[in-house]
Amino acid sequence: METSEGDSRKASCDEPRTQEKLRADMQRPGYHFLPLANWMNDPNGTIFWKGKYHVFYQHNPEGPFWGTMHWGHTVSEDLVHWKNLPLALSPTSSGPDNEGCWSGCAVINKGIPTIVYTGVRPEVQCIATSSDDMVTWHKYSGNPVLGGPPEGLEVDGFRDPCVWNENDRWCMILGSGMRGVRGATLLYESRDLINWRYIHPLCIGDGNVTGDMWECPDFFPLNKKHVLLVSTLGRTLYFIGRYHDNNFTTEARGTTDIGDSFYAGRTLTDGMGRRILFGWVKEDRDPISCKISGWAGLLSVPRILSLCNGSRLRIEPATELKSLRGRHQRYEDIRLAAGSSFPLDGLEGDALEISAEFSAEDAQQFGLKLRCSPDDSEKTFIAFDKDTRSLQLDTRFSSLDTNVGHGIHGGRMDLFEGNTLTMHIFIDRSVIEVFANSMTCLTGRIYPSRPDSIHMGLFARNGRSRLISLDAWEMRKDGSS
Ligand code: FRU
Repeated sequence: METSEGDSRKASCDEPRTQEKLRADMQRPGYHFLPLANWMNDPNGTIFWKGKYHVFYQHNPEGPFWGTMHWGHTVSEDLVHWKNLPLALSPTSSGPDNEGCWSGCAVINKGIPTIVYTGVRPEVQCIATSSDDMVTWHKYSGNPVLGGPPEGLEVDGFRDPCVWNENDRWCMILGSGMRGVRGATLLYESRDLINWRYIHPLCIGDGNVTGDMWECPDFFPLNKKHVLLVSTLGRTLYFIGRYHDNNFTTEARGTTDIGDSFYAGRTLTDGMGRRILFGWVKEDRDPISCKISGWAGLLSVPRILSLCNGSRLRIEPATELKSLRGRHQRYEDIRLAAGSSFPLDGLEGDALEISAEFSAEDAQQFGLKLRCSPDDSEKTFIAFDKDTRSLQLDTRFSSLDTNVGHGIHGGRMDLFEGNTLTMHIFIDRSVIEVFANSMTCLTGRIYPSRPDSIHMGLFARNGRSRLISLDAWEMRKDGSS
């Protein structure tokens, strides 16, 4: 295969002074992966190969804002410690990706690691290969391998390939929006990853409900069924169904994360056969605050997927995260009177893992108070609301800084039979990831401005509630290097 390289091989910013500033930043996560500096959005090309987890990602090495997209690259042996590798893809000024290397996937073709990605502008599909264990990548000189949508099909968007191997052929779906029809994924097949034949839409969305254009599709088998992920309307949706003979019949659908901060989810299968989901955790700060801080965007913790009763996605944090646990505290059987707030004395920090179980009793709302300042001028609530049967992250009072988001985020979820709620929460400075009843994820951002906003508590409103137990661990902040 003849190849060409991208024009720029810029390294991400690593001047010592910048690194010092980034380390001192109270909002910058410590155990999540994020680039050394500047912007990241979607995870790309997630793949487990030769015992290592590779995550590429949309990256702008020019600054902490979306711009001309490159592919950053990080690798991990344990899903916890991430090592930065050189940029994998940069735009080629004379190439079909001269305005950016957008999202895509990675596959192994006859032993050769191959990236399939979208070049812009217009949106076309390109490939690149590596012959040194994925460190450097060479673009195919015949790019693009797919120069535009099928004739006669009017689409908005034609991007973000997801490719898989099926018997003796490659299959690919592309994210798209069929004009007048709405979000869709377009199915193609190929023998060599170079010549592609359009088959038909693999899945078409449901009118207004599932968005006009689908980005970042991901399609994979899970417990004898198939799952399609698509990102639209600010969230990553899932469809569960049966796939046979180029057709996908959907049986159920849901949202992988009910917050407003998790997007562009993509998966890989690892050596243990686990299906692992990663997403882009977006910022909720204004662009000037991002610019001043020098970074924006990060990777969610790895989330293990399985099916519950064949009709719902079960989502749990990778158990490897336990290796970051430090000092442990446990609280048991705390009865919360109506309208009360209970401080969890001795539990402090901005990097914690918390695993709590509540019995709802007759409270209308109950849950945890996080990152509170001693005078309560900053505080964040994670609440279950019985009236609306919803899980909520209330960031209205999270920060005295007016340049960051303040609001209520969340959505519908059900309690377990017996009215109990388990919440597994990861706090990493400005990031909060909640796994509720192993089924509902809620990712959000908070930016407390006070260094003493490190206290935690419990609360119940309009009725009583009970904390059955709560385990908390301080987390070591040694995620990426
Ligand atoms: C999703 C997305 C993709 C696109 C990429 C560009 O966040 O819009 O559809 O490939 O970001 O950065």
